[in-house]
Amino acid sequence: MPETTRRSMVLRRRPVGVPRAEDFELVEDTVPAPGAGEVLTRTIWLSIDPYMRGRLADRPSYAPPVQIGEVMTGENIGEVVASSDPGFAPGDVVRGSRGWQTHSLSPAAALTKLDRHGPPLSAHLGVLGMPGTTAYSGMKDIGQPKSGETVVISAASGAVGSVAGQLAKRAGARVVGIAGGPDKCLWVQETLRFDDCVDHRLPGLPQALADACPNGIDVYFENVGGAVQAAAFALLNPHARVVMCGMVAQYNEREMPPGPNLGFVVGKRVRIEGMIVSDKPERFAEWRALAGPWVKEGSLHYRETVIDGLENAPEALALLLRGGNFGKMLVRVGPDSV
Ligand SMILES: NC(=O)c1ccc[n+]([C@@H]2O[C@H](COP(=O)([O-])OP(=O)(O)OC[C@H]3O[C@@H](n4cnc5c(N)ncnc54)[C@H](OP(=O)(O)O)[C@@H]3O)[C@@H](O)[C@H]2O)c1
Repeated sequence: MPETTRRSMVLRRRPVGVPRAEDFELVEDTVPAPGAGEVLTRTIWLSIDPYMRGRLADRPSYAPPVQIGEVMTGENIGEVVASSDPGFAPGDVVRGSRGWQTHSLSPAAALTKLDRHGPPLSAHLGVLGMPGTTAYSGMKDIGQPKSGETVVISAASGAVGSVAGQLAKRAGARVVGIAGGPDKCLWVQETLRFDDCVDHRLPGLPQALADACPNGIDVYFENVGGAVQAAAFALLNPHARVVMCGMVAQYNEREMPPGPNLGFVVGKRVRIEGMIVSDKPERFAEWRALAGPWVKEGSLHYRETVIDGLENAPEALALLLRGGNFGKMLVRVGPDSV
């Protein structure tokens, strides 16, 4: 018996600080029927990502904010329930950006079909999806680690950082992670095989990072900002490259903290470059082709934190922004198959 009620998480008010459940509202309506060229899907996996905090704030950004009363934006994986497009049939599994909903209508062109018998479906939102591609693009286009260089990765156990560091290891670099807590640091060293990992929650981060990087830093992959960034910037070598991927430590702040003194960038000829993964769309397919076999053979490691239920998506976002995730943060909205 197909479900007739659709649940959607809409934005009720703009969060102040860490997002809370009360900032959102779960609304119900009737599952819609697809119009010409449209596909109706039932959501299986919902991706929870740091950029979502930016979409909740009404301030200038590279993408427009979600409006009050609108369904919260997000990428998900779903199963086709009904289709008015010849390219999709009930039972197909697809990836698309359809938001925090149990059921969604999409134009067929906005969906990518996935292989049910390939890698686990959730991997298409993490290691093989947007975060993995971000790590790949950041390293390929900006970081360009070389054998023997020292590469430092912040948020090293996260969806992006875990891939970025493994790519630097494959390039022959000495890789040092920065992560929050002993469990994450242990995994980064023992499973991801980084050469060292520094716990930023312990006192004395600048000295601990300096001890872990006796030859300075040649590539810094920035995911965090704040005190972590200050510790890394102090150790940059001449001609170092900094991949400015994200600064999650300040996403909940209303006022931006004062910036670093960048005078050293001149004398050391440091390259600091920002990136948005969608700037180079070709990297997505390249990365899937490269990393798919690595995931299959088990040589590219990843972790996931799964929260059950669409109603818990706001809490999943809050947890992610506090470091409560271990690897890619996901919400399981429905079963793989019904
Ligand atoms: N530019 C792009 O196109 C692009 C695309 C995707 C992601 N990003 C950025 O990449 C970064 C990582 O994203 P992700 O999806 O892989 O998330 P993630 O690393 O899986 O999760 C976020 C992690 O940030 C760390 N963190 C949070 N607050 C912190 C703080 N105050 N100080 C230090 N660490 C803190 C936590 O790890 P610990 O527990 O280890 O502290 C947390 O687990 C984010 O900045 C995100 O915005 C950019």
